[in-house]
Amino acid sequence: MRFALSSLCGVLLACATAQASAASGDLAGAADLAKANGCYSCHAAAEKIVGPSFVSVAEKYAGDKDASASLAQSIQMGSKGKWGRAAMPAHPSLSPGDVTLLANWVLAARP
Ligand code: HEC
Repeated sequence: MRFALSSLCGVLLACATAQASAASGDLAGAADLAKANGCYSCHAAAEKIVGPSFVSVAEKYAGDKDASASLAQSIQMGSKGKWGRAAMPAHPSLSPGDVTLLANWVLAARP
């Protein structure tokens, strides 16, 4: 009986977790991906460092339906000339799924 109850809880918990991550996209995981890939050495959420703040990127592209794809491309291939004189290097080791996730996460940045 004890065994049956605890495995039922296990199943319910797994369900709750799966729903939570589907609801918020995987945007929470994107912050870890950004940390792991050194994005924060040039970017911060709200202030310009070497690159623009993620909030100002989100503001600039608000309402642009192609923004997700074009930011994904900037992250993957690198970017220069859009924000100033500093250039962003390419990130060839990130998968297409990861750069799209990062692009959507940046677009969701709020002050
Ligand atoms: C070496 C510094 C550096 C690193 C590391 C870096 N960036 Fe950038 N990033 C920049 C600079 C500089 C720009 C502005 C480029 C320009 O003017 O076109 C930029 C621009 C961007 C933009 C806007 C692109 C556009 O098309 O307007 C996004 C989104 C972005 N970075 C996300 C990221 C993410 C996510 C990472 C980590 C995978 C990252 N950056 C890592 C320096 C960096």
